[in-house]
Amino acid sequence: MQIQTNISLKPYNTFGIDVKASRFINITSLDILTELVNNEKDFFILGGGSNLLLTKDIDKLVVHINFKGIKVIEEFDNSVLVQVAAGEVWHEFVLWCIDHDFGGVENLSLIPGNVGTAPIQNIGAYGVEFKDTVVKVEALHIETGEVRIFKKDECHFGYRNSVFKNDLKGDYIITNVIFKLSKNKHTLNSSYGAIQAELAKNNISEPTIKAISDAVIAIRQSKLPDPKKIGNSGSFFKNPVISKSEFEKLQEKFPNTPFYEVKSENSEISILKSEILYKVPAGWMVEQCGYKGKRYGDAGIHKNQALVLVNYGNATGKEILDLSKRIQKSVFEKFGIAIEAEVNII
Ligand code: EPU
Repeated sequence: MQIQTNISLKPYNTFGIDVKASRFINITSLDILTELVNNEKDFFILGGGSNLLLTKDIDKLVVHINFKGIKVIEEFDNSVLVQVAAGEVWHEFVLWCIDHDFGGVENLSLIPGNVGTAPIQNIGAYGVEFKDTVVKVEALHIETGEVRIFKKDECHFGYRNSVFKNDLKGDYIITNVIFKLSKNKHTLNSSYGAIQAELAKNNISEPTIKAISDAVIAIRQSKLPDPKKIGNSGSFFKNPVISKSEFEKLQEKFPNTPFYEVKSENSEISILKSEILYKVPAGWMVEQCGYKGKRYGDAGIHKNQALVLVNYGNATGKEILDLSKRIQKSVFEKFGIAIEAEVNII
């Protein structure tokens, strides 16, 4: 096992924040990882670094999960089971699926990050979420060094949420994900307005999974900054989900408030299960507060999508964090709604 010391984490987080790890190890196999957890327990797990705001140096062993492999493990008439190692880059996995004509993840094209970190926040975009195709998640229990297989319903997936972010936070390292993908007969999800517009622009009336992937790539490239050019972590905040009465109050004051109706999820109280809730785009509220496109030193708010905070080069994690707090305060003062960070703040 090769442990490096005093390593800059700038290349390992898409925000491009320059903090240091006192010790760092690049893990390329499950065997090495198992050996590690048998010897050390107190470390910091780093996957694709795409949902992370680092505000300070990390005085622990940083474990970079970097093992690869994609394989079909079972084939049925209309579907396949595919096992993917945690260190695979998410978008490369999506492109592999498109190449093999396996459907289900095309709407999730170009989402930054790795396959092993996708379950933690149940990544989602354009009407599809990670949870829609996952069958099982394999993870290593840090305490015992044993591999546990989580069936989908044991993962408690919700909107940008899972058991790995809550009850089991820090207990497991995700090692593999098993997906069920369609073969031949794909169920396409092209209902999202922006996808329809992009397909229409290209005169595509009968889209393939590749056409949907291409449309999503074009939409994302037009709205979201490329982390290779401008540091960012995608949506910095979650879209708040509010009750009908809160929404009506909001609409009275701001009649043009955009919204999506959603069913309450993960509610333990069955009476609430069918309650309709309202998701309000946080990006709209941030824009209404006048932040869209603003820049404060090297920290800023993206010009095309106010939900995305950016690092123009040398912003510190603390500067981005302070900006996010300032935005949260303004949104609360104007709309009476508390918006929560979606990224993990360390
Ligand atoms: N809007 C504005 N101004 C903005 C941004 C958005 O007014 O600057 C309003 C518009 O009314 C727009 C609506 O918000 O119609 C929705 O915007 P958009 O379609 O860009 O989606 P979003 O709700 O802001 C969510 C996800 C994105 C995902 C898109 C598309 C969250 C936190 N974000 O953003 O995910 O790509 O939907 O499905 O749910 C990510 O998680 O990193 C991410 C990029």
